[in-house]
Amino acid sequence: MDELISKLKKLVSTSDKIVAFTGAGFSAESGISTFRGAGGLWSKYDPSIYADINYFVKDPSYYWSFIRDERYPVLKKAKPNDGHYALVELEKRGILYRVITQNIDGFHQIAGSSDVIELHGNSRNVFCMECDKTYTMEEVNKKLEEELPPRCSCGGILKPDTVLFGEPLPQYALDMATLAAKKCDMFLVLGSSLVVYPAASMPRIAKKNDASLVIINIDPTPLDNIADIVINESASKVLSTVVEGG
Ligand code: OAD
Repeated sequence: MDELISKLKKLVSTSDKIVAFTGAGFSAESGISTFRGAGGLWSKYDPSIYADINYFVKDPSYYWSFIRDERYPVLKKAKPNDGHYALVELEKRGILYRVITQNIDGFHQIAGSSDVIELHGNSRNVFCMECDKTYTMEEVNKKLEEELPPRCSCGGILKPDTVLFGEPLPQYALDMATLAAKKCDMFLVLGSSLVVYPAASMPRIAKKNDASLVIINIDPTPLDNIADIVINESASKVLSTVVEGG
């Protein structure tokens, strides 16, 4: 392990355009459950019911009950962890080019990262599927006690600004992420299973464009075979160690 960390430190010290690509495992130390891996949410909730746009349109109450009972109470209490702050430190040193995240918790921005691409949307905003009026998640959460699914003042169904399975990714975010993957000199995967596309195509794009690829994830991923360094450990702990060391 120490040898891998030294190798990673050396690689970080010779890179000046690092892209960090974060997934649910990066927020695990903040107390937020991952979707896959040990105790993952999808072992308890069927994503084709609780996270699919076609099911949402048929019956949004399942998705909203998942938000009300499982996600919102945890997200409301949780805070960014040392890993999020380590990325802010890399930005201060001028060597972090961009953060691409699949997470919807907004922790990178709360920690102080200024350039964050949210590939799967965010949990801050909610919009009406009929008239597009927007609400904050906090406002809507209050409604959830009395109304499931929550509705807009126009009567339309409300939906969080997060991407569900079967929905396209926000085009601008996808374009910016692709560009960042092409331009970086190091692509650092932090806590992602790398099984959900198109997000999981980014490491390959980076590698094809001559960046080094580092994957820090507790479990193996399907892209380990093309990575320069793979560390099967806590992503936020490893990153904090690497950054603390200067
Ligand atoms: P996943 O839940 O698929 O993968 C999280 C990975 O983090 C797993 O492989 C775990 O082994 C690993 N892990 C757990 N704790 C860790 C830790 N402390 N440090 C490092 N690794 C850890 O999460 P994502 O890859 O982000 O999309 O999932 C991608 C998308 O699938 C999500 O954005 C979400 C989900 O379904 C939608 O809902 C559309």
